[in-house]
Amino acid sequence: MFEGKVILTGVKPTGTPHLGNYLGAIRPAIQMGNEAVKNGGKHYMFIADYHAINAEKDPAVLAQKLKEIACIYLAGGLDPAKSVFYRQSDVPEITEITTILYAYTPKGFMNKAHAYKAAVDKNRAAGKPDDDGINMGLYTYPTLMAADILAYDTDIVPVGKDQVQHVEIARDIAGAINAHYNQELLKLPEYYTDDHVAVVPGVDGRKMSKSYGNVIPLFEDDKSIKKSIFSIKTDSRPMEEPKNPDEILVYEIYKAIATPAQLQEMGDGLRQGKLGYGHIKNMLLDAVINEIKDAREKYNYYMAHFDEVEVFLQQGAAKARPTAQATLKRLKDAVLGR
Ligand code: ADP
Ligand code: TRP
Repeated sequence: MFEGKVILTGVKPTGTPHLGNYLGAIRPAIQMGNEAVKNGGKHYMFIADYHAINAEKDPAVLAQKLKEIACIYLAGGLDPAKSVFYRQSDVPEITEITTILYAYTPKGFMNKAHAYKAAVDKNRAAGKPDDDGINMGLYTYPTLMAADILAYDTDIVPVGKDQVQHVEIARDIAGAINAHYNQELLKLPEYYTDDHVAVVPGVDGRKMSKSYGNVIPLFEDDKSIKKSIFSIKTDSRPMEEPKNPDEILVYEIYKAIATPAQLQEMGDGLRQGKLGYGHIKNMLLDAVINEIKDAREKYNYYMAHFDEVEVFLQQGAAKARPTAQATLKRLKDAVLGR
């Protein structure tokens, strides 16, 4: 898969990632990137800090979130010698490309974009004017994202379902420019969504999400992870009562992390009334800790030595820029008749 392809993944530095983000997005993105590089392709992995400023105005918070995200990807196995790993704001060509793309972005595309529409819906529900509190950064979000993608002749953009529309907008903008100038100035990207990646439930049974406050933390100490796992909802049935594992939340979360043999063991124990809730929570705790322990050590190392991470990011930007410069030149030559 992805042989010789250019894969680009972007992440916004907002929120502190939880176990669901890690298993559902971060780890698969790293694996996909590593696989692409192994198969003669290229992997760009960047932190979309200009996208984050639309919502976050506190620079200290932004800097902290960026630091966490960068360290999490490195801890999770992103190899900066193989992937091009950089900050969006360290590649100024991206914002120049964005300016050119604006001229080819129908305003109607932005009106229809999910992030903007969701903000309008929220305002309406609160009885506020449609555009209350909405800045132009949020409104034009998909055009900057299109520049992120189109700058590197990206073939494939792995995304969650909520971002599919944005990749389609990038494709449409590229198509419009190519059609206008009757040449392939920009490569048409495709999105990729992985249906095998399960949604990890949170401790209350809803999707694990920072907005629900039901998360299992990622790289915190064993004690906080234990506290969170022991808060997973259970009922008062006694251990001896045979249970259908599919109705047990601990088992559902375990599915995201356990090996088939481990899952079988928990399932059998529940069906046969041999495992109580305390047992299965401990099994989940062991699996989580086992899964993250090496990564957590690396994470703590990088957080304490961010100067080393900064070097990786600068080297990454230096590797990214020539391709973005070439795209920008192609566009300027065509659009401005230079
Ligand atoms: P949150 O719901 O905590 O706000 P985001 O919406 O910021 O998380 O999601 C960031 C990435 O993590 C997305 O790619 C999303 O698909 C993935 N993700 C978020 N929550 C989960 C989950 N519970 N299980 C699997 N993947 C998830
Ligand atoms: N919009 C993406 C998100 O919220 C982050 C992002 C910005 C991105 N630019 C991108 C993702 C380019 C993929 C490609 O998750």
